[in-house]
Amino acid sequence: MKDSHGRNIDYMRISITDRCNLRCKYCMPEDLPSIPHEKILRFEEILHICRLAGELGIRKFKVTGGEPLVRKNCMQFLKDLKELPATEQVTLTTNGTLLSEYLPELKRIGLDGVNISLDTLNEHTFEQITGRSEFHKVMDAVIACQASGIRTKVNSVLLQDINKDDFFQLVGLAETYQVDVRFIEIMPIGFGQQFKGCNRQELLDMLSKRYPNHVQVHEHRGNGPATYIYLPGFKGCIGFIDAIHGKFCGTCNRVRLTSDGILKLCLYYQNGIDLKSMLHAGYPDSLIRTAMEQAIFRKPTEHQFHLAALEGPAEQRRMSQIGG
Ligand code: 5AD
Ligand code: SF4
Repeated sequence: MKDSHGRNIDYMRISITDRCNLRCKYCMPEDLPSIPHEKILRFEEILHICRLAGELGIRKFKVTGGEPLVRKNCMQFLKDLKELPATEQVTLTTNGTLLSEYLPELKRIGLDGVNISLDTLNEHTFEQITGRSEFHKVMDAVIACQASGIRTKVNSVLLQDINKDDFFQLVGLAETYQVDVRFIEIMPIGFGQQFKGCNRQELLDMLSKRYPNHVQVHEHRGNGPATYIYLPGFKGCIGFIDAIHGKFCGTCNRVRLTSDGILKLCLYYQNGIDLKSMLHAGYPDSLIRTAMEQAIFRKPTEHQFHLAALEGPAEQRRMSQIGG
């Protein structure tokens, strides 16, 4: 459906849990209380909302977390989501630690893509960032996932003084493997506020020196806001998601569902509509669908991350509670 700015909203990110088995410095650096199970939407409830969203023209779903694969019965949920009448595409964002064991099942389900978060190819830096020594599991999962034929992307957040020097090694993944590697600018949400990231221009300057004959990709790849470049001889492309320095709100196509049942219209704004309460109160589908439609229509024009965040309407939750 179109919102009041004429943007076609056809994509929903669904956070199915705020729990995670890693402790990334900029996301969930320590054990923090999780949302109690009874406050999390049941899978049937999420599917119910997705069916209504499908009726409004939202046909592409990204399942995320926390870490989605830590939630029990995630595979059955993905299969059910894929089978909803309006669904065109179901993709997954994961930290990769548990991915290898689920790959055959994901392939059977016909999952349309997997995004794996990996910020470094150095196992010590990996442990420094994530607090866990699972580097090899994630690396093996990246290799197995792209070999399985499921479209695979690697998402990296680069931080000054921590893993910026890993840039070229991460870029190299797209030379060796059939993966797109995307660099996500850190956003000042939750613990992300404590770090200084790297923006597209800075990385592009580094890249241009080493690969002067890179080519800008104009065709659209995937659903997201990434801009891509192609390096001759590489199997995958290099992408940049530059939410702060390269604001892309004008072409935003997405809404978000938090694990506790809030339909969020913009990553930046805390507010949204409480679909869980509507479901629990037994509202009829027509009413819930209309509430969703009206909220989506009024989706905010743009984020305000450039302001001193954490004030007024800005998001106070952590990234793991929203789903990135
Ligand atoms: N800014 C940008 N990306 C973030 N992620 C987690 N926190 C932030 C943040 N503050 C990323 C993770 C993962 C994806 C789901 O979101 O690195 O790749
Ligand atoms: Fe877990 Fe992803 Fe957050 Fe790291 S960034 S703690 S992997 S949810």
